[in-house]
Amino acid sequence: HQSHPFYGVQQQGITTPRPAVGMLASFDVLATDQAGLERLLRTLTERIAFLTQGGTYEQRDPRYPPVDSGILGPSIDPDGLTITLSVGASLFDDRFGLDAVKPRHLQRMVAFSNDALDADRCHGDISLQFCANTEGTTIHALRDIIKNTPGMLMLRWKQEGTVPVMAPRSDGSTESARNYLGFRDGTANPPADNSGLMQKVVWVDHSNQEPEWARNGSYQAVRIIRNFVERWDRTPLQEQEAIFGRRRDSGAPMHGGIEHDLPVYDNDPDGKVTPLDSHIRLANPRTRGSERNLILRRPFNYSNGVEANGQLDMGLLFIAYQADLEAGFITVQKRLDGEPLEEYIKPVGGGYFFTLPGVQAGDYLGSSML
Ligand code: HEM
Repeated sequence: HQSHPFYGVQQQGITTPRPAVGMLASFDVLATDQAGLERLLRTLTERIAFLTQGGTYEQRDPRYPPVDSGILGPSIDPDGLTITLSVGASLFDDRFGLDAVKPRHLQRMVAFSNDALDADRCHGDISLQFCANTEGTTIHALRDIIKNTPGMLMLRWKQEGTVPVMAPRSDGSTESARNYLGFRDGTANPPADNSGLMQKVVWVDHSNQEPEWARNGSYQAVRIIRNFVERWDRTPLQEQEAIFGRRRDSGAPMHGGIEHDLPVYDNDPDGKVTPLDSHIRLANPRTRGSERNLILRRPFNYSNGVEANGQLDMGLLFIAYQADLEAGFITVQKRLDGEPLEEYIKPVGGGYFFTLPGVQAGDYLGSSML
Protein backbone atom coordinates (compact mmCIF):
# COMPACT_ATOMS: atom_id res chain seq x y z
CA HIS A 1 0.00 0.00 0.00
CA GLN A 2 2.67 2.45 -1.01
CA SER A 3 1.41 6.04 -1.06
CA HIS A 4 3.06 9.41 -1.57
CA PRO A 5 1.78 12.33 0.53
CA PHE A 6 -0.41 14.49 -1.66
CA TYR A 7 -0.23 17.77 0.30
CA GLY A 8 3.05 19.63 0.25
CA VAL A 9 5.04 22.60 -0.99
CA GLN A 10 5.63 20.93 -4.35
CA GLN A 11 3.66 18.37 -6.30
CA GLN A 12 4.62 14.71 -6.37
CA GLY A 13 5.78 12.93 -9.53
CA ILE A 14 8.81 15.08 -10.29
CA THR A 15 11.54 14.28 -7.78
CA THR A 16 9.56 11.27 -6.53
CA PRO A 17 11.39 8.06 -7.56
CA ARG A 18 10.10 6.92 -10.94
CA PRO A 19 7.92 3.80 -10.73
CA ALA A 20 7.40 1.28 -13.54
CA VAL A 21 4.43 2.85 -15.29
CA GLY A 22 3.87 6.34 -16.65
CA MET A 23 1.21 8.09 -18.67
CA LEU A 24 0.92 11.64 -19.91
CA ALA A 25 -2.59 12.79 -20.75
CA SER A 26 -3.36 16.18 -22.24
CA PHE A 27 -6.76 17.89 -22.04
CA ASP A 28 -8.65 20.89 -23.31
CA VAL A 29 -10.56 22.86 -20.70
CA LEU A 30 -14.23 23.24 -21.65
CA ALA A 31 -15.04 25.75 -18.90
CA THR A 32 -15.42 29.21 -20.39
CA ASP A 33 -14.78 31.50 -17.43
CA GLN A 34 -12.69 31.76 -14.30
CA ALA A 35 -15.45 30.40 -12.06
CA GLY A 36 -15.66 27.30 -14.27
CA LEU A 37 -11.89 26.90 -14.22
CA GLU A 38 -11.89 27.16 -10.43
CA ARG A 39 -14.58 24.46 -10.22
CA LEU A 40 -12.44 22.23 -12.44
CA LEU A 41 -9.26 22.78 -10.39
CA ARG A 42 -11.15 22.07 -7.17
CA THR A 43 -12.53 18.84 -8.61
CA LEU A 44 -9.12 17.74 -9.90
CA THR A 45 -7.53 18.46 -6.52
CA GLU A 46 -10.20 16.46 -4.72
CA ARG A 47 -9.90 13.47 -7.11
CA ILE A 48 -6.07 13.45 -7.02
CA ALA A 49 -6.11 13.65 -3.20
CA PHE A 50 -8.40 10.61 -3.07
CA LEU A 51 -6.81 8.50 -5.81
CA THR A 52 -3.24 8.91 -4.56
CA GLN A 53 -4.15 7.98 -0.98
CA GLY A 54 -6.68 5.28 -1.81
CA GLY A 55 -9.75 4.18 0.06
CA THR A 56 -13.08 2.52 -0.48
CA TYR A 57 -16.23 3.78 -2.13
CA GLU A 58 -19.80 2.68 -1.65
CA GLN A 59 -22.33 1.98 -4.35
CA ARG A 60 -25.55 3.49 -3.14
CA ASP A 61 -28.31 2.65 -5.57
CA PRO A 62 -27.92 0.09 -8.40
CA ARG A 63 -30.36 2.07 -10.53
CA TYR A 64 -27.52 4.59 -11.01
CA PRO A 65 -24.26 4.01 -12.88
CA PRO A 66 -21.53 2.67 -10.59
CA VAL A 67 -19.71 5.31 -8.56
CA ASP A 68 -16.41 3.88 -9.75
CA SER A 69 -15.32 2.03 -12.90
CA GLY A 70 -14.63 -0.93 -10.61
CA ILE A 71 -11.51 -2.01 -12.50
CA LEU A 72 -9.51 -2.11 -9.26
CA GLY A 73 -12.35 -3.64 -7.25
CA PRO A 74 -14.23 -1.99 -4.39
CA SER A 75 -11.15 -0.64 -2.61
CA ILE A 76 -8.54 1.56 -4.24
CA ASP A 77 -4.90 0.78 -3.39
CA PRO A 78 -2.68 3.85 -3.91
CA ASP A 79 -0.06 1.60 -5.58
CA GLY A 80 2.55 4.37 -5.59
CA LEU A 81 0.30 6.58 -7.70
CA THR A 82 1.23 10.19 -8.31
CA ILE A 83 -0.77 12.57 -10.49
CA THR A 84 0.98 15.77 -11.47
CA LEU A 85 -1.09 18.70 -12.76
CA SER A 86 0.43 21.16 -15.21
CA VAL A 87 -1.01 23.90 -17.41
CA GLY A 88 -0.24 24.85 -21.02
CA ALA A 89 0.29 28.32 -22.50
CA SER A 90 -3.20 28.18 -24.04
CA LEU A 91 -4.75 28.38 -20.55
CA PHE A 92 -3.44 31.95 -20.36
CA ASP A 93 -5.26 33.15 -23.48
CA ASP A 94 -8.23 35.53 -23.12
CA ARG A 95 -10.76 32.92 -21.90
CA PHE A 96 -9.87 33.15 -18.22
CA GLY A 97 -8.24 36.58 -17.91
CA LEU A 98 -4.97 35.04 -16.77
CA ASP A 99 -2.58 36.60 -19.31
CA ALA A 100 -1.00 38.86 -16.67
CA VAL A 101 0.06 35.92 -14.47
CA LYS A 102 1.50 33.60 -17.13
CA PRO A 103 4.80 32.00 -16.13
CA ARG A 104 7.65 33.85 -17.84
CA HIS A 105 8.86 31.10 -20.17
CA LEU A 106 5.62 29.28 -20.82
CA GLN A 107 5.03 29.13 -24.58
CA ARG A 108 3.51 26.93 -27.24
CA MET A 109 6.01 24.32 -28.42
CA VAL A 110 7.27 24.98 -31.95
CA ALA A 111 8.83 22.32 -34.18
CA PHE A 112 12.57 21.69 -34.06
CA SER A 113 14.44 20.78 -37.26
CA ASN A 114 13.94 17.00 -37.01
CA ASP A 115 10.32 17.13 -35.79
CA ALA A 116 7.31 15.81 -37.68
CA LEU A 117 4.68 16.93 -35.20
CA ASP A 118 1.27 15.33 -35.38
CA ALA A 119 -1.25 18.03 -34.41
CA ASP A 120 -3.43 15.43 -32.69
CA ARG A 121 -0.65 14.62 -30.23
CA CYS A 122 0.50 18.15 -29.34
CA HIS A 123 -0.20 20.86 -26.77
CA GLY A 124 -3.22 21.16 -24.48
CA ASP A 125 -4.60 23.42 -21.74
CA ILE A 126 -3.77 20.92 -18.99
CA SER A 127 -1.49 17.92 -18.69
CA LEU A 128 -1.78 15.18 -16.13
CA GLN A 129 1.20 12.93 -15.57
CA PHE A 130 0.21 9.62 -13.95
CA CYS A 131 2.92 7.38 -12.47
CA ALA A 132 2.28 4.15 -10.55
CA ASN A 133 3.56 0.63 -9.97
CA THR A 134 1.02 -1.00 -12.29
CA GLU A 135 -0.88 0.00 -15.40
CA GLY A 136 -4.34 -0.74 -14.00
CA THR A 137 -3.80 2.01 -11.45
CA THR A 138 -2.97 4.73 -13.98
CA ILE A 139 -5.86 3.73 -16.24
CA HIS A 140 -8.26 3.62 -13.30
CA ALA A 141 -7.13 7.10 -12.23
CA LEU A 142 -7.58 8.52 -15.72
CA ARG A 143 -11.08 7.08 -16.00
CA ASP A 144 -11.99 8.39 -12.56
CA ILE A 145 -10.92 11.89 -13.55
CA ILE A 146 -12.78 11.78 -16.86
CA LYS A 147 -15.91 10.52 -15.12
CA ASN A 148 -15.77 13.30 -12.54
CA THR A 149 -15.19 16.22 -14.92
CA PRO A 150 -18.04 16.04 -17.43
CA GLY A 151 -18.47 19.25 -19.38
CA MET A 152 -15.27 20.61 -17.81
CA LEU A 153 -12.44 18.71 -19.46
CA MET A 154 -11.93 16.92 -22.77
CA LEU A 155 -9.13 14.46 -23.42
CA ARG A 156 -6.91 15.55 -26.32
CA TRP A 157 -4.21 12.87 -26.43
CA LYS A 158 -2.37 10.47 -24.18
CA GLN A 159 0.77 8.38 -24.25
CA GLU A 160 1.64 5.54 -21.92
CA GLY A 161 5.01 4.01 -21.23
CA THR A 162 6.90 1.69 -18.91
CA VAL A 163 10.40 1.38 -17.50
CA PRO A 164 11.54 -1.44 -15.22
CA VAL A 165 12.44 -0.32 -11.69
CA MET A 166 16.05 -1.33 -11.09
CA ALA A 167 16.83 -2.78 -7.67
CA PRO A 168 20.30 -1.91 -6.30
CA ARG A 169 22.94 -4.58 -6.96
CA SER A 170 24.14 -6.73 -4.05
CA ASP A 171 27.13 -4.38 -3.53
CA GLY A 172 24.74 -1.41 -3.18
CA SER A 173 25.61 0.14 -6.55
CA THR A 174 22.83 1.20 -8.90
CA GLU A 175 22.29 0.77 -12.61
CA SER A 176 19.92 2.56 -14.95
CA ALA A 177 17.14 0.92 -16.94
CA ARG A 178 17.49 0.75 -20.72
CA ASN A 179 15.55 2.54 -23.41
CA TYR A 180 14.31 0.80 -26.58
CA LEU A 181 17.60 1.52 -28.35
CA GLY A 182 19.27 -0.74 -25.80
CA PHE A 183 21.21 1.95 -23.92
CA ARG A 184 21.06 2.78 -20.23
CA ASP A 185 19.00 5.93 -19.83
CA GLY A 186 19.15 8.31 -16.87
CA THR A 187 22.80 7.78 -15.93
CA ALA A 188 23.82 11.43 -15.85
CA ASN A 189 20.51 12.73 -14.54
CA PRO A 190 21.04 15.15 -11.62
CA PRO A 191 20.13 13.12 -8.50
CA ALA A 192 16.50 13.86 -7.59
CA ASP A 193 17.14 13.16 -3.88
CA ASN A 194 19.59 16.08 -3.70
CA SER A 195 17.13 18.77 -2.64
CA GLY A 196 19.67 21.61 -2.82
CA LEU A 197 20.43 20.73 -6.42
CA MET A 198 16.73 20.28 -7.26
CA GLN A 199 16.11 23.78 -5.87
CA LYS A 200 18.41 25.11 -8.60
CA VAL A 201 17.60 22.74 -11.46
CA VAL A 202 13.90 22.00 -11.09
CA TRP A 203 11.94 24.36 -8.82
CA VAL A 204 10.98 27.91 -9.66
CA ASP A 205 11.93 30.43 -6.96
CA HIS A 206 12.35 34.20 -6.55
CA SER A 207 15.57 34.36 -8.53
CA ASN A 208 13.77 33.13 -11.65
CA GLN A 209 11.84 36.44 -11.92
CA GLU A 210 8.61 34.52 -12.16
CA PRO A 211 5.21 35.60 -10.81
CA GLU A 212 5.07 35.00 -7.05
CA TRP A 213 2.38 32.31 -7.39
CA ALA A 214 4.69 30.18 -9.57
CA ARG A 215 7.21 29.50 -6.78
CA ASN A 216 7.77 25.78 -6.25
CA GLY A 217 6.31 25.00 -9.65
CA SER A 218 8.39 23.71 -12.55
CA TYR A 219 8.40 23.64 -16.35
CA GLN A 220 7.43 20.32 -17.89
CA ALA A 221 8.66 19.54 -21.43
CA VAL A 222 6.97 16.53 -23.04
CA ARG A 223 8.06 14.90 -26.28
CA ILE A 224 6.79 11.75 -27.94
CA ILE A 225 9.89 10.56 -29.80
CA ARG A 226 9.55 7.61 -32.14
CA ASN A 227 12.54 5.29 -32.47
CA PHE A 228 13.28 3.59 -35.80
CA VAL A 229 14.25 0.38 -34.09
CA GLU A 230 14.48 -1.83 -37.20
CA ARG A 231 17.11 0.50 -38.69
CA TRP A 232 18.89 0.78 -35.33
CA ASP A 233 19.12 -2.99 -34.95
CA ARG A 234 21.05 -3.13 -38.26
CA THR A 235 23.54 -0.46 -37.23
CA PRO A 236 27.07 -1.51 -36.15
CA LEU A 237 27.63 -1.43 -32.39
CA GLN A 238 30.59 0.95 -32.67
CA GLU A 239 28.40 3.40 -34.58
CA GLN A 240 25.63 3.12 -31.98
CA GLU A 241 28.12 3.85 -29.21
CA ALA A 242 29.63 6.79 -31.10
CA ILE A 243 26.12 8.22 -31.60
CA PHE A 244 25.35 8.23 -27.88
CA GLY A 245 28.92 8.67 -26.59
CA ARG A 246 28.60 5.79 -24.15
CA ARG A 247 29.19 2.04 -24.11
CA ARG A 248 26.01 0.14 -24.72
CA ASP A 249 26.25 -2.78 -22.34
CA SER A 250 27.83 -1.11 -19.31
CA GLY A 251 26.61 2.46 -19.89
CA ALA A 252 30.16 3.63 -19.10
CA PRO A 253 31.80 6.64 -20.78
CA MET A 254 33.75 5.93 -24.00
CA HIS A 255 37.06 6.11 -22.11
CA GLY A 256 36.02 3.22 -19.89
CA GLY A 257 35.14 2.72 -16.24
CA ILE A 258 31.68 1.99 -14.94
CA GLU A 259 28.26 3.47 -15.69
CA HIS A 260 28.36 6.25 -13.12
CA ASP A 261 31.88 7.46 -13.92
CA LEU A 262 31.68 11.00 -15.30
CA PRO A 263 32.73 11.49 -18.90
CA VAL A 264 35.83 13.68 -19.17
CA TYR A 265 36.22 15.86 -22.24
CA ASP A 266 39.14 18.13 -21.26
CA ASN A 267 41.81 15.83 -22.66
CA ASP A 268 39.72 15.03 -25.73
CA PRO A 269 39.18 18.40 -27.44
CA ASP A 270 38.84 16.88 -30.92
CA GLY A 271 36.37 14.21 -29.87
CA LYS A 272 38.63 11.26 -30.71
CA VAL A 273 37.29 9.32 -27.72
CA THR A 274 33.83 10.85 -27.21
CA PRO A 275 32.70 12.32 -30.54
CA LEU A 276 31.90 16.03 -30.41
CA ASP A 277 28.54 15.32 -32.04
CA SER A 278 27.64 12.43 -29.73
CA HIS A 279 24.30 12.75 -27.93
CA ILE A 280 25.71 13.15 -24.43
CA ARG A 281 28.46 15.59 -25.39
CA LEU A 282 26.05 17.85 -27.25
CA ALA A 283 23.36 17.57 -24.56
CA ASN A 284 25.82 18.44 -21.81
CA PRO A 285 29.24 19.69 -22.97
CA ARG A 286 30.30 20.02 -19.30
CA THR A 287 31.92 23.36 -20.01
CA ARG A 288 31.94 26.16 -17.48
CA GLY A 289 28.42 27.62 -17.17
CA SER A 290 26.68 24.68 -18.80
CA GLU A 291 25.29 23.58 -15.43
CA ARG A 292 22.71 26.34 -16.03
CA ASN A 293 21.22 24.04 -18.67
CA LEU A 294 20.70 20.98 -16.47
CA ILE A 295 17.31 19.28 -16.69
CA LEU A 296 15.70 16.44 -14.76
CA ARG A 297 14.61 13.70 -17.19
CA ARG A 298 11.80 11.29 -16.29
CA PRO A 299 11.15 9.30 -19.47
CA PHE A 300 9.20 6.11 -20.15
CA ASN A 301 9.56 3.67 -23.05
CA TYR A 302 6.45 3.27 -25.19
CA SER A 303 5.31 0.58 -27.59
CA ASN A 304 2.08 1.47 -29.40
CA GLY A 305 1.41 -0.89 -32.25
CA VAL A 306 2.33 -1.19 -35.91
CA GLU A 307 2.80 1.56 -38.51
CA ALA A 308 1.10 1.25 -41.92
CA ASN A 309 4.44 0.14 -43.43
CA GLY A 310 4.84 -2.74 -40.99
CA GLN A 311 7.35 -0.99 -38.71
CA LEU A 312 7.05 -1.02 -34.94
CA ASP A 313 5.66 2.18 -33.48
CA MET A 314 7.83 2.47 -30.41
CA GLY A 315 9.97 5.09 -28.77
CA LEU A 316 10.50 7.34 -25.80
CA LEU A 317 7.89 9.32 -23.89
CA PHE A 318 10.38 12.01 -22.95
CA ILE A 319 9.40 14.12 -19.93
CA ALA A 320 11.79 16.65 -18.43
CA TYR A 321 11.43 19.18 -15.61
CA GLN A 322 13.39 22.39 -15.17
CA ALA A 323 13.17 25.74 -13.39
CA ASP A 324 13.79 27.61 -16.65
CA LEU A 325 12.36 26.19 -19.88
CA GLU A 326 14.61 28.32 -22.12
CA ALA A 327 17.86 27.54 -20.32
CA GLY A 328 16.78 23.92 -19.90
CA PHE A 329 14.96 21.86 -22.51
CA ILE A 330 14.94 24.45 -25.31
CA THR A 331 18.67 25.17 -25.12
CA VAL A 332 19.57 21.47 -24.84
CA GLN A 333 17.31 20.49 -27.75
CA LYS A 334 18.79 23.28 -29.92
CA ARG A 335 22.25 21.87 -29.23
CA LEU A 336 21.00 18.42 -30.21
CA ASP A 337 19.48 19.68 -33.49
CA GLY A 338 21.34 17.92 -36.31
CA GLU A 339 22.84 15.19 -34.07
CA PRO A 340 23.61 11.83 -35.75
CA LEU A 341 20.95 10.18 -33.55
CA GLU A 342 18.32 11.99 -35.67
CA GLU A 343 18.61 9.32 -38.36
CA TYR A 344 16.97 6.94 -35.86
CA ILE A 345 14.43 9.13 -34.05
CA LYS A 346 11.44 11.29 -34.97
CA PRO A 347 9.68 13.55 -32.47
CA VAL A 348 5.97 13.36 -33.31
CA GLY A 349 4.18 15.04 -30.41
CA GLY A 350 4.32 16.69 -27.01
CA GLY A 351 4.08 20.15 -25.55
CA TYR A 352 5.28 22.56 -22.88
CA PHE A 353 3.43 22.90 -19.59
CA PHE A 354 3.92 24.59 -16.25
CA THR A 355 3.59 22.26 -13.27
CA LEU A 356 1.65 24.07 -10.57
CA PRO A 357 3.11 24.46 -7.06
CA GLY A 358 1.93 22.01 -4.42
CA VAL A 359 -1.16 22.45 -2.30
CA GLN A 360 -2.03 22.39 1.42
CA ALA A 361 -5.08 20.65 2.88
CA GLY A 362 -8.21 22.76 2.46
CA ASP A 363 -6.84 24.57 -0.59
CA TYR A 364 -6.85 23.55 -4.28
CA LEU A 365 -4.15 23.27 -6.95
CA GLY A 366 -3.77 26.54 -8.84
CA SER A 367 -5.66 28.68 -6.31
CA SER A 368 -2.79 31.18 -6.09
CA MET A 369 -2.86 31.60 -9.88
CA LEU A 370 -6.52 32.66 -10.07
C1 HEM B 1 21.70 11.35 -22.02
C2 HEM B 1 19.05 8.54 -24.92
C3 HEM B 1 16.37 12.36 -26.20
C4 HEM B 1 18.88 15.10 -23.12
C5 HEM B 1 21.23 10.26 -22.72
C6 HEM B 1 21.80 8.94 -22.68
C7 HEM B 1 21.06 8.15 -23.49
C8 HEM B 1 20.03 8.98 -24.06
C9 HEM B 1 21.25 6.67 -23.77
C10 HEM B 1 23.04 8.52 -21.87
C11 HEM B 1 22.70 8.04 -20.49
C12 HEM B 1 22.17 9.11 -19.58
O1 HEM B 1 22.91 9.96 -19.05
O2 HEM B 1 20.94 9.12 -19.41
C13 HEM B 1 18.10 9.34 -25.53
C14 HEM B 1 17.15 8.88 -26.51
C15 HEM B 1 16.40 9.96 -26.87
C16 HEM B 1 16.89 11.08 -26.12
C17 HEM B 1 17.04 7.45 -27.03
C18 HEM B 1 15.27 10.05 -27.84
C19 HEM B 1 14.57 9.03 -28.26
C20 HEM B 1 16.81 13.43 -25.48
C21 HEM B 1 16.24 14.74 -25.54
C22 HEM B 1 16.95 15.52 -24.67
C23 HEM B 1 17.97 14.68 -24.07
C24 HEM B 1 15.05 15.16 -26.39
C25 HEM B 1 16.77 16.96 -24.31
C26 HEM B 1 16.47 17.89 -25.20
C27 HEM B 1 19.84 14.32 -22.56
C28 HEM B 1 20.76 14.78 -21.53
C29 HEM B 1 21.59 13.69 -21.23
C30 HEM B 1 21.15 12.59 -22.06
C31 HEM B 1 20.80 16.17 -20.90
C32 HEM B 1 22.71 13.66 -20.19
C33 HEM B 1 24.01 14.08 -20.80
C34 HEM B 1 25.09 14.19 -19.73
O3 HEM B 1 24.87 14.89 -18.75
O4 HEM B 1 26.13 13.56 -19.89
N1 HEM B 1 20.15 10.26 -23.57
N2 HEM B 1 17.92 10.67 -25.32
N3 HEM B 1 17.86 13.42 -24.59
N4 HEM B 1 20.10 13.01 -22.84
FE1 HEM B 1 19.05 11.86 -24.13
